[in-house]
Amino acid sequence: MRLDKLFSDAGLLSRRDCARAVSRGEIVVDGVPASRADMKVDEAKAEIFFRGERVGFSKFVYVMMNKPEGYISATTDGRLPVVTELLPEELKRRGLFPCGRLDKDTTGFMLLTDDGQTAHRLLSPKHHVEKVYAFTLDAPLPEGAEARFLAGVRLGDEICKPAALALDDGRTAGEIVLTEGKYHQIKRMMQREGCTVTSLARISFGGIPLDEGLSPGAWRYLTEEETAHLLAQK
Ligand code: URA
Repeated sequence: MRLDKLFSDAGLLSRRDCARAVSRGEIVVDGVPASRADMKVDEAKAEIFFRGERVGFSKFVYVMMNKPEGYISATTDGRLPVVTELLPEELKRRGLFPCGRLDKDTTGFMLLTDDGQTAHRLLSPKHHVEKVYAFTLDAPLPEGAEARFLAGVRLGDEICKPAALALDDGRTAGEIVLTEGKYHQIKRMMQREGCTVTSLARISFGGIPLDEGLSPGAWRYLTEEETAHLLAQK
């Protein structure tokens, strides 16, 4: 495959930026600075470095974003801003989509990918992939909520899966672990206890913590280790 196509398909560099990187000697293929952006490389075998870092060209892309407030977890809305607008053109072109939903006012770990099968698996309640949320409430959560959440809260016709709860001393803030994603689930669970959620942030997804270095709206690729961890979720 052409070197510039490889970089642009991977969402790393547009073709123009790849040409610039080649002319600056920033791309090294099998130990030799790349001579042309349109040179042919064997992506399965070539060792490619960009600015001194080894680049892996995987079939799929996995991105961690710190979702800001006010954005919809979708690829289009027509009215409100969507999380994919925060990605660069190369990744938009690749068709990345959010894996699951966070409410417009929820912040934190949003996984975006073009790997539909894995996204489906990560979201299925069958696979028990843990998502951890930090919340604050307008009033202390009543005593016994921990046990009720672990037993499975009823929301309408449905019973939620057990949810582990850890509360601060004042019982107005804490963390909750969900393995499913029902509509407004945490807000509705808290409402059943007579409390209103005043802030909600997802701080971890499938055992991968949100990178604290990502400011709201910022994103980065998952590391190789994080990707392997995500793909290994059963
Ligand atoms: N539960 C909610 O109520 N909202 C979210 O965004 C996520 C979980």
